[in-house]
Amino acid sequence: MRAPLEESDDRIPHDRHRAGILEHGSVKLLTDSGVNGRVLSEGHRHDGIDLRFDGRSHRIDFQDLVGESVWLYPQNEVFVDLAAARERDGGDVRYGVRDTEVLDVTTDTSKIRVTEADGTEIEIHCRILVGADGSQSICRKAIPADVRTDHFIEYPFAWFGILTEAPPSAPELIYARSEYGFALISQRSETVQRMYFQCDPAEDASSWSEERIWDELQRRVDGLDGLELKRGRIFEQMVLPFRSYVCEPMRHGNLFLAGDAGHTVPPTGAKGLNLALADVRVLFRALDSFFSTGSGALLDAYSDTALQRVWKAQNFSYWMTSMLHTRSDATSFERRRALGELAAVTGSRYGRQYLAEAYTGGPDN
Ligand code: PHB
Repeated sequence: MRAPLEESDDRIPHDRHRAGILEHGSVKLLTDSGVNGRVLSEGHRHDGIDLRFDGRSHRIDFQDLVGESVWLYPQNEVFVDLAAARERDGGDVRYGVRDTEVLDVTTDTSKIRVTEADGTEIEIHCRILVGADGSQSICRKAIPADVRTDHFIEYPFAWFGILTEAPPSAPELIYARSEYGFALISQRSETVQRMYFQCDPAEDASSWSEERIWDELQRRVDGLDGLELKRGRIFEQMVLPFRSYVCEPMRHGNLFLAGDAGHTVPPTGAKGLNLALADVRVLFRALDSFFSTGSGALLDAYSDTALQRVWKAQNFSYWMTSMLHTRSDATSFERRRALGELAAVTGSRYGRQYLAEAYTGGPDN
């Protein structure tokens, strides 16, 4: 038997950039399905976030507003848990395959062909093929162009992300809009912090000194309350471009897309992983029904059911992104209007409640 997966394992994507916010429904899915409860013991429960603008923080109190919380637990940890559960349950996982081909998804001889890490070519025949292969999905391309609509928008900005060895600067996440652009103060642990600031997608991250990065972050959160970021050594800095994308439909023949293969969201709403888990919840119910009763009704409804949630999350992520970021060509009207929107949202219990409900995942789990 192979050793249990550790974070340093080559089989795990070394991608520490992924957002680390899990909705309560995602946490429930991981724990109820028996993956494990590490998210509860190792993750951090957050009962709110701060929206910061005009140099002041406005707390969105999730517990008070909707009686829910989210958990800060990075995606790479979720991957470790899922991979370990698969191994524990005797699943057959092949790492490092290449030259993947997805064939005949509308026939009863659907199959994939891959070359394994040791060079062996194999063909796997499948009744149902789940394409959960990420934003660069190969499976998605098996949906012919005349059947598929690719909905997407690009944004004229990206995130400059850092990981730093420092104590937390705040107990909860701070989403800040400033005249210099957006900044997000997030955390990883008591000793490692994650922060981002809006930048040009063409920015060269390596050309920034630590001091310049800290000064840039600091001026975006500056305010009369004297909020001061706790600085430390920066051990990772990189530019993360993003876009909004939806593939419609998410099903073609025996192929079912799930997660980033079917849609990507900008990171501002922290919805990416949560949407992937929500797809899996819907797909599981449909597969369970199909294999236990022979009825394909839920499978037939999969794409429409999944897309309903996807479009709501697309709207939320787009809204959060546009409300908190500043386009470099924004007029004074646009800049002031966005502040008016933030004041309207934070100044009304209904506004805060809408944001809290969408951020924590909403009732439809
Ligand atoms: C993160 O901690 O990486 C993070 C948190 C919240 C977001 C995006 C990223 O909205």
